[in-house]
Amino acid sequence: STAVVCIGFFYMVAATSSARDEFDTTAKTMEEFSGYSIHEPSCLDSSFSSIPVDTESLQKEIEELSMFSDTPTPSVTRILYSENDVLARRYIKYLMGRADLSVREDAVGNIFGRWVGSEPELSPVATGSHIDAIPYSGKYDGVVGVIGAIEAINVLKRFGFKPKRSLEVIMFTSEEPTRFGISCLGSRLLAGSKELARVLATVVDGQNISFADAAKSVGYLKNDDISQVFLEKGSYFSFIELHIEQGPILEEEGTQIGIVTAIAAPASLKVDFEGNGGHAGAVLMRNRNDAGLAAAELSLAVEKHVLQSGSGDTVGTVGILELHPGAINSIPLKAHLEIDVRDIDENRRNAVMDRITDSARSISSDRGVKLTEFRIVNQDPPASCADPVVNAIESSCRELKFSYRKMISRAYHDSLFMDRISDMGMIFIPCHKGYSHKPEEFADPDDIANGVRVLASALAKLSLS
Ligand code: GLV
Ligand code: MN
Ligand code: MN
Repeated sequence: STAVVCIGFFYMVAATSSARDEFDTTAKTMEEFSGYSIHEPSCLDSSFSSIPVDTESLQKEIEELSMFSDTPTPSVTRILYSENDVLARRYIKYLMGRADLSVREDAVGNIFGRWVGSEPELSPVATGSHIDAIPYSGKYDGVVGVIGAIEAINVLKRFGFKPKRSLEVIMFTSEEPTRFGISCLGSRLLAGSKELARVLATVVDGQNISFADAAKSVGYLKNDDISQVFLEKGSYFSFIELHIEQGPILEEEGTQIGIVTAIAAPASLKVDFEGNGGHAGAVLMRNRNDAGLAAAELSLAVEKHVLQSGSGDTVGTVGILELHPGAINSIPLKAHLEIDVRDIDENRRNAVMDRITDSARSISSDRGVKLTEFRIVNQDPPASCADPVVNAIESSCRELKFSYRKMISRAYHDSLFMDRISDMGMIFIPCHKGYSHKPEEFADPDDIANGVRVLASALAKLSLS
């Protein structure tokens, strides 16, 4: 495969110079143009490591993007189809255009920037992530895998690489479940989820705005046919996502790159209890049916069942707990919980879900509180990364002389769903203390640059294979 890589580079160098000579006598050399020296590459692995990542621009772009936020810096809040989401999308399309990618958007706002390869009929190699951000989160989750992917394309262009398979950067719509309670909305649809298309026909956000109205308000979903977003299996040859680790391992070990081998299986539940409510002073304790206490008891039951799974890989969180009417002198009439349960072992996670289900029912009957809703929102299987992608990342790390380790992803990612239509793999970089989903999230510019370089190299290999 090394030989193929070399041939690819020579092909590109030849094509670039002849186009320049024939069509534009005023054009500067590539070196003058880009400000980067073009080493005539003899091979990817020997000279590629000298190609600079524009760390300064990358940092500037990450900072600029973080300004499109509903909450003050350093926190970032960017909710699907909000004004800041629209402005951030515009910024990403601008960066894609500046990298000379041809930009397309689908009906739900997944954004694609393609660099057409010399054999455009072959399935493309894609990379990307998301830029939406949960309330009061950080600047790097997802963003590194979008802005970093565009920079990886720029690195390859500076190097003078000529792709055989087209290369594509994808910015996925709503990886985070914030607005409609559905995670990886864009990638699930790309992967052809008919079930999600059905759910989206009726789902509303916290303000009772339907998905279709929200999408239409910012120019998407011009007709109601969501199935136009679906892509066939095999639409991509491979997909790679660059992401911060969101855990402490790489930083603690001083390892530069994580190569993901599998993504844990996420599930989420929505639960509503309804009691009798009433006056906080006048209703005697023995006469109460307190929906808030049912929710509190279920929250503790979630913790208990997770801890009893027998594995530290099982995790469970009650991230949303709302009481109605929410007055200090009113017994909670209604309680709403959203529960997130994950494991790398699907059966073990499902067993925990079953116990949570049993607890919800028994708490409801013991407390005389109605279980008005108990709904599994998603119960996704885990995904394994594909050997060809893992190998391309691993040989890139070796050639670039980066330390690396294989690891699983405990967070979910759009890659989990791209796996349904493409070979898939992920590159992790260290982040400070593993902080994520909070404003303290931080990734060192050098670590981001390393990740971009590994991504560029792996994309090049896969493009030529
Ligand atoms: C993604 O943001 C996750 O919650 O894993
Ligand atoms: Mn996230
Ligand atoms: Mn993410």
